Amino acid sequence: RLRGVVALDGPSGTGKSTVSRRLAAELGAAYLDTGAMYRAVTLAVLRAGVDPADAVEVARVARAARLTMGTDPLAPGVRLDELGVEQEVRGPEVTGAVSAVSAVPEVRELLVAAQRELISAALQEPGGVVVEGRDIGTVVVPDAGLKVYLTASADARALRRTKQDSSEGREGDLRATHADVQRRDALDSGRKVAPLRRADDALELDTTELDVAGVLEQLHKLVESHA
Ligand code: C5P
Repeated sequence: RLRGVVALDGPSGTGKSTVSRRLAAELGAAYLDTGAMYRAVTLAVLRAGVDPADAVEVARVARAARLTMGTDPLAPGVRLDELGVEQEVRGPEVTGAVSAVSAVPEVRELLVAAQRELISAALQEPGGVVVEGRDIGTVVVPDAGLKVYLTASADARALRRTKQDSSEGREGDLRATHADVQRRDALDSGRKVAPLRRADDALELDTTELDVAGVLEQLHKLVESHA
């Protein structure tokens, strides 16, 4: 068991990003948002004018992309070709194409290797690291000291994404978001390489009835009992 690593997986809209980042800040830990890395490669694919369904071209763009990812929970910062793309990777174009890009095996190989390096570097510092994604407990760090799988009902997840979109200045439409959440879940769970699934030894936390503070309280308890 790798002490100091908290792996948080689950589908979108479970509040995963918000709680992972806050948990890391409260623990004095580093924070790794692996979804932002898949989003940044997707942005590079779109900028290159490559069809996200063209696996060969997508892999070529991924190999050439100069991607840097920070691990500070207060300002993670993802960069493509030296420029910050934090806002752009959350936009609808990237969100619409990211599941296709992240299903390409070579993209996953490259990013998993980069993620493991970032995690090893973070573990040189005291405080540990909170890592969030879809395959952290199953593939990236199968020996993580604590693995949590966050779930929530589809309705709750669509509602959260819509609120998050409008609070960040993007157009929020509940019905479209509901459809998008379900579409991405199906793609992420159905892909051949590293599909979204709960690791056998991950603890499941249903966040449907909990607010952010409630989820954080549960997570702190789990960290304490698994430290
Ligand atoms: O978490 P977030 O919504 O930013 O993730 C965006 C997409 O990146 C997911 O829908 C999934 O396709 C992909 N992803 C992945 N593996 C991870 C993290 C994200 O395939 N570890």
